[in-house]
Amino acid sequence: MKLKTLIISMMTSVTLVAGAAQAAELAIVSGDTGNGLAFLQEQLKKFTERTGHNVTIVPMPSSTTDQFGQYRLWLAAGNTDIDVYTTDVIWAPQLADQFLDLTEAAADVAGDHFPSIIESQTVDGKLVALPAYTDAPALFYRSDLLEKYGKEVPTTWAEMRATAQEIMDAERAAGNPDMWGFVFQGNAYEGLTCNALEWVKSYGGGQIVEADGTISINNEQAIAALEEVRTWIGTISPEGNLAYMEEESRGVWQLGNAVFMRNWPYAYALGEGDDSAVKGKFGVAPLPAGEGEGARSAATLGGWNYAVSKYSANPEAAIELALFLTSDEIQKERAIKQTNLPTLEALYDDAEIAEAAPIIPNWKEIFQNAVPRPSAPTKSDYNEVSSLFWSAVHNTLSGNGSAAENLEVLEADLEDLLN
Ligand code: GLC
Repeated sequence: MKLKTLIISMMTSVTLVAGAAQAAELAIVSGDTGNGLAFLQEQLKKFTERTGHNVTIVPMPSSTTDQFGQYRLWLAAGNTDIDVYTTDVIWAPQLADQFLDLTEAAADVAGDHFPSIIESQTVDGKLVALPAYTDAPALFYRSDLLEKYGKEVPTTWAEMRATAQEIMDAERAAGNPDMWGFVFQGNAYEGLTCNALEWVKSYGGGQIVEADGTISINNEQAIAALEEVRTWIGTISPEGNLAYMEEESRGVWQLGNAVFMRNWPYAYALGEGDDSAVKGKFGVAPLPAGEGEGARSAATLGGWNYAVSKYSANPEAAIELALFLTSDEIQKERAIKQTNLPTLEALYDDAEIAEAAPIIPNWKEIFQNAVPRPSAPTKSDYNEVSSLFWSAVHNTLSGNGSAAENLEVLEADLEDLLN
């Protein structure tokens, strides 16, 4: 071996050994909605190539409620097996004590994200998680069917109900017995809280618990909203919709069996996929408004983040991973491939994103006007507040008590819990 080659080969092995010594074994937990885990896996491959750190995914069910229950137990027990948690926007105040403060690590990049999103992940001055994407739902509609029957995209829920019923009846008569008018997230879990907050807010019925802590849910407009939705069950929406989460509604929709669907932007990319029966046949619009004073279109603010466990044995590598997964590069790829809304403001002016995923720039205003769930005013009680709310709504939609009865009981329960 020539001397030069020998030196180079020695240098290479030294670098490899040094790299190996620093390489960490990390674990990240993440739920699976759509092909979210496959996307994450691709990104982790890049991360490993660049840093030498290995990352294992611990897959979780798609329900954010189930994830939260599990994470709370793991964190309370000081679990050292998980380094990075994928966290819902509503969890920061409840889990803040268990995660590392990322303020310093993110000092150079925090200013590039929308300030309100950074704020939502900041608890008593501590940056609890780094934003990966934000979320605000859409009314997905079958443009081919609206055209076929000469209908406009509905702007009120009553219009949506009428159009859904008419097209559904006509399509069934024309030979598709599986056709439904509207599918949404009606299971008793956090997703129903999101849907029902939209109905209530869209009728001018407030936000369950207001920013100043006032319990506002027991009011006439909220009752009117739930009474409207109750008429959908078994007519334009299947009874089974009361057990649907995001993926079940998308399943019905993507087979071509619903005129309308309420879902998050991730369903856009999947609906345009080659295996989708609705590819090229649908559009998205803001959710319909209710009726009466204060009626408006309302979208619940969602979104996902990465947090680093304070029990991680490799905090530095874990922080590097959280920074990588929330970076400009990955957010852009997420926007293009997953139609997830970036939290980095500059990406809304990115021509490649606008070309590949037109929903993204169009949704900037919608997520900026989206309604937050009351996780900030109710802090550590939020999960309980939400669970009382979705139960009252689920009972009402199942015909178990009227909206007025259930909201009165809910108000009393919330008073007991919060005051
Ligand atoms: C979406 C939202 C999340 C919300 C969940 C409810 O994933 O991004 O914030 O809690 O839906 O199912």
